[in-house]
Amino acid sequence: MRIVCVGGGPAGLYFGLLMKRLHPAHHITVVERNRPYDTFGWGVVFSDATMDAMQRWDPDSAAEIQTAFNHWDDIEVFFKGTRQRTSGHGFVGIGRRKLLNILQRRCEALGVELLFEQEVDSDLDFPDADLIIASDGFNSRIRARYADHFQPDMVVRPNRYIWLGTNKLFDAFTFDFRKTEHGWFQAHIYKFDAETSTFIVETTEEAYAAHRLGELDQAQSVAFCERVFAEVLGGASLMTNARHLRGSAWLNFTRLICGRWSTFNGRSHVVLMGDAAHTAHFAIGAGTKLAIDDAIELARQFDAAGHRRDAIADVLVRYEEIRRVDVARIQNAARNAMEWFEVVGRRYADTLAPEQFMYSMLTRSQRISHENLRLRDRAWLEGYERWFATRAGIAPRNTTDRCLPPMFTPYSLRGVTLPNRIVVSPMAVYSATDGMPNDFHLVHLGARAMGGAGLVFGEMTCVSPDARITPGCLGLWNQAQADGWRRIIDFVHANTAAKFGIQLGHAGRKGATKVAWDGIDQPLEAGDWPLISASALPYLRHSAVPRAMDRADMDRVTGDFIRAAELAAAAGADWLELHCAHGYLLSSFLSPLTNQRTDAYGGSHANRARYPLEVFHAIRAVWPADRPISVRLSCHDWTEGGNTPDDAAIYAAMFKEAGADLIDCSSGQVSKEEKPVYGRLFQTPFSDLIRNEVGIPTIAVGAISEADHANSIISAGRADLCAVARPHLADPAWALHEAAKIGLTSIPWPKQYFAGKQQYETNLARAADTAK
Ligand SMILES: Cc1cc2nc3c(=O)[nH]c(=O)nc-3n(C[C@H](O)[C@H](O)[C@H](O)COP(=O)(O)OP(=O)(O)OC[C@H]3O[C@@H](n4cnc5c(N)ncnc54)[C@H](O)[C@@H]3O)c2cc1C
Ligand SMILES: Cc1cc2nc3c(=O)[nH]c(=O)nc-3n(C[C@H](O)[C@H](O)[C@H](O)COP(=O)(O)O)c2cc1C
Repeated sequence: MRIVCVGGGPAGLYFGLLMKRLHPAHHITVVERNRPYDTFGWGVVFSDATMDAMQRWDPDSAAEIQTAFNHWDDIEVFFKGTRQRTSGHGFVGIGRRKLLNILQRRCEALGVELLFEQEVDSDLDFPDADLIIASDGFNSRIRARYADHFQPDMVVRPNRYIWLGTNKLFDAFTFDFRKTEHGWFQAHIYKFDAETSTFIVETTEEAYAAHRLGELDQAQSVAFCERVFAEVLGGASLMTNARHLRGSAWLNFTRLICGRWSTFNGRSHVVLMGDAAHTAHFAIGAGTKLAIDDAIELARQFDAAGHRRDAIADVLVRYEEIRRVDVARIQNAARNAMEWFEVVGRRYADTLAPEQFMYSMLTRSQRISHENLRLRDRAWLEGYERWFATRAGIAPRNTTDRCLPPMFTPYSLRGVTLPNRIVVSPMAVYSATDGMPNDFHLVHLGARAMGGAGLVFGEMTCVSPDARITPGCLGLWNQAQADGWRRIIDFVHANTAAKFGIQLGHAGRKGATKVAWDGIDQPLEAGDWPLISASALPYLRHSAVPRAMDRADMDRVTGDFIRAAELAAAAGADWLELHCAHGYLLSSFLSPLTNQRTDAYGGSHANRARYPLEVFHAIRAVWPADRPISVRLSCHDWTEGGNTPDDAAIYAAMFKEAGADLIDCSSGQVSKEEKPVYGRLFQTPFSDLIRNEVGIPTIAVGAISEADHANSIISAGRADLCAVARPHLADPAWALHEAAKIGLTSIPWPKQYFAGKQQYETNLARAADTAK
């Protein structure tokens, strides 16, 4: 085959040399506009996995790269006068120039033709080529030429950064956070050869504009950064080598995804590789890794197909299929890390203590969890757990005691102390008649309270018969129901350390439907009741049309909430939650999708929140002052035109102002058009935003299914409590079992079950030994 790589960056050079090595009969040319030793940038970072793959595919270049690598294990963070360090993180860095020179030499040794100082106009410059690799970087001219086909999707990110270097040598991957009069700046610093460290400075658009950095030339920008980071630089100077960039050299990162990666131009197959196909933010330093991994995968596919010209089209399809998955995974992690740095100033730097700030930073990509940190640096993690436990009021007796991990530390609000931070999330079980709690509810909720959670919620409890979702829903509008609740709550208090919460709600337009197993959200065929909502809009096309509430409806429903709150207090509930989520009555006021009112209860955020806040004030007034009230919000409608997490933050601030103690951060179920993006911990970012930007405690919920998840969330300050729903349906003793799985034997089980505890722990230990 005749192969032309347009662009001699890591992607083009590495693919060229791999193909030549695997099949010397190929004729391969790499065309590069720069001179051989002419390159921008400082050091790049690799992972061990990429290095292993390089070792397998070309041991010669891998050996050279490995000797030139700088390896370091530590991360050090300078923040508010503190200097914190952890180990076990394993990075390797190399100068970009050094890497390219090794690859260039290897290409030459293998017989790849290298053409420097040649500007390529288009793929049509190479009519004889069978295959053209568009390895021409982020500004790929070839991709632009076929933009309609490749469908590049670019998002310009808000932060500004400048890529600098320094001769000061840092022996750890170092982060320095500094606050100026206009906001926070951060430096990402790593050594990559015997004389030089990369020094990337990043800030928000607001701080960039306020300091008028766009008006500075490169030398002035360097001087500015030297002033901001004077302490960490200790007198060393910064350098720029981005002379090819015009202006101030402060850039915005652009995230790139392409709809297609290859095409046929009538004579040659053309395929995107490396930065031409995708970008990953430097916050996890993966751009070069992705370029190298692309090159390896395409070469692997050609090798498997026998390096045949007639296999090119199929090979390109398989290459794209496989690489897309890995690239999406890395881009996801890179996005999390990038977003952390975008919001760090307003969300974390002014709110978190240095210890928690460090933990938050280490777990920013969401790929490193609590237990990963334990594997990396046990001493540091245990020190953090001790710090957290001490703040939660349970200082360990001595430094050798195993400390309770964050999810098992107590949590106090008003006069209530939860024994730990795991919550059984409200879950309707549709098993009541006339709203009456019965034996099923006693056994169901009692079992979950004995299962180790710190707070057990009953399901959405309806404040009147016509507030029910289904005829099977629980209620709290009369004394008999209150007595039923009292029986359950007394059982929980008498037999467990758990506290008990009642979630009060009104179904609104989602009422009068069948129980879940007969058809969720489907209207009742008989015995239905009239519905009310913020506006006269049915939930499903065939649902009953609700009446838009008038003042009299509002007063009646507020009265129902007051009565329910009073009954709940008398029944001994420790905690109340106001259900303002999932498209039910109060949620229907908050979302613009369901609230089209033109009176004082529709329109602006303040108007849409007016009625839910009236209800909140009314129940807060009758609910005992020493017991908390949380508010559940749908923090994202996942629907065009609906509420977003930023809207939820506005509502959270209003509820905070009204005296809410905590926001329970759920999402969705407001519109059937919703397109939620599910995944592990998928709603935790909403909790993180609200807790740290609004400044109110939160519950995170949604796909939290392991102790490791809960510990990571709580340790990082992304929530105060974690609610776990479906896993508690599968396992009433979820919390006790998760404690055992992380080797925590000090969590008590109900005394009647003690023999089971010992056997369970022994079996887990045996299984772990066998797996070794
Ligand atoms: C601030 C910053 C920090 C980074 N840090 C890291 C890091 O720590 N680790 C990491 O792995 N990555 C990092 N990267 C990303 C990394 O630089 C790229 O992802 C990587 O170089 C991609 O390789 P590539 O071969 O696809 O593209 P490039 O390296 O961009 O190479 C493309 C080549 O094509 C040439 N070219 C373009 N157009 C033409 C044309 N028309 N004719 C001839 N030649 C042409 C260019 O001169 C260039 O040499 C960082 C990037 C930035 C901006
Ligand atoms: C069967 C079932 C019933 C539910 N009922 C309620 C409810 O009554 N009130 C409520 O706010 N959320 C309810 N939810 C939502 C859960 O509380 C929780 O937010 C959701 O299931 C996500 O958590 P998970 O991933 O741990 O299951 C219910 C969920 C399930 C699975």
